Amino acid sequence: MITHIVGNRPQFVKLAPLYHEFQKAGYQQNIIHSGQHYDENMSDVFFEELGIPAPYVNLAAGGGSHAQVTAKAMIGLEEELLDKKPELVILYGDTNTTLAGAVVASKLCIPIAHVEAGPRTHNRSNPEECNRVATDHLSDVLFCPDAVSLQNLQREGLGDAACVTGDIMYDTYLSIAGQAVQEDAQEEIIVMTWHRQENTADKARMESILNLVERLGSKIVCPLHPRTRKCLAQFGLLERAESIANLEIIEPVGYVEMVALMNRAKLILTDSGGVSKESSFAGAKCLFMLDLDVWEDLLREDWIHRVDPENEESVSEALRIAEGAKRVAPEDRPKYYGDGHAAAKIVQELISRKLI
Ligand code: UD1
Ligand code: UDP
Repeated sequence: MITHIVGNRPQFVKLAPLYHEFQKAGYQQNIIHSGQHYDENMSDVFFEELGIPAPYVNLAAGGGSHAQVTAKAMIGLEEELLDKKPELVILYGDTNTTLAGAVVASKLCIPIAHVEAGPRTHNRSNPEECNRVATDHLSDVLFCPDAVSLQNLQREGLGDAACVTGDIMYDTYLSIAGQAVQEDAQEEIIVMTWHRQENTADKARMESILNLVERLGSKIVCPLHPRTRKCLAQFGLLERAESIANLEIIEPVGYVEMVALMNRAKLILTDSGGVSKESSFAGAKCLFMLDLDVWEDLLREDWIHRVDPENEESVSEALRIAEGAKRVAPEDRPKYYGDGHAAAKIVQELISRKLI
């Protein structure tokens, strides 16, 4: 039995192609949901749209501090893994669910495969960095989305466990892009997502992001993460956000609608690791609202441009970029993240390493 451990929106997107690939090859597998994300539009919708069967258990670990979520997930995972004794556990990305899975499975001596291993922000105050470093070091095999991630792991002495498969999110994007194409269908927009702790924990920071949004002037569509909605409300900023004329706040959308939005965007404004990379699949450059290293190849060629909403010089530069933003034709988009067959490569690598 192969057990996938997931619990957050981006993990459902990463799980889909690998689940289907194992199914095609006839492997027995099951899914544990930590419950970290629990709203219908943060969880169920992805299972339905991406054709993933419902998890056999939900550990209801969502809502709470880092320690609370991680600890609840760990307790539930230990029970499940002791009971079902899978031969391999698959973890995805860098969330508290990923960390919980890594700690529990490694102590039960169950081999771990980590999908999306190796990206580094080089900043330990970033919670996802802690989760990813710990998970990489506890895993038995590391599947990297790009060459930079492999180099990071080699530098940490993990090269033998690692290989580049390309980005599994590209597999998912390609599987949906046909259904979701609305290129040139309607007016070009800026698509915004906003949820990271660094951008939601502080009122002044949230206000500076709203100021940036207002000054961008173009129509911005923002499927708002529930965390951000709650923080805006708590700081008394929700009304202001809802009254910004060029900002359309909507509920979080399913993946098909998200791809449709990105495919008609002239620019993407985000603090999401996943969305900032997907911008290169969808052909819209990205303003990234965190001072962190993400996707270094995209940063180097200024496809992703970091903006500090609290710094006037940085905001002026972002406004200049937005002014000239245009959709980029498929042949001119950066291609650092593989060929859309990451899932097949992962299965092959697991077979050749005799892990399945
Ligand atoms: C988590 C991940 C982050 C990832 C993001 C994807 C960690 C440390 N962070 O951040 O890396 O980018 O998921 O979206 O694991 N909430 C709801 N309904 C939900 C989910 C969340 O209302 O379905 C609210 C709750 O108030 C919750 C808060 O959002 O406490 C934060 O959720 P949490 O899962 O802890 O962190 P994210 O910001 O979603
Ligand atoms: N996404 C989505 N609907 C939304 C916002 C994001 O389907 O309303 C998708 C997005 O395209 C990407 C994934 O969810 O595939 C990224 O999730 P998120 O930004 O929450 O997490 P991160 O990548 O920052 O960890």
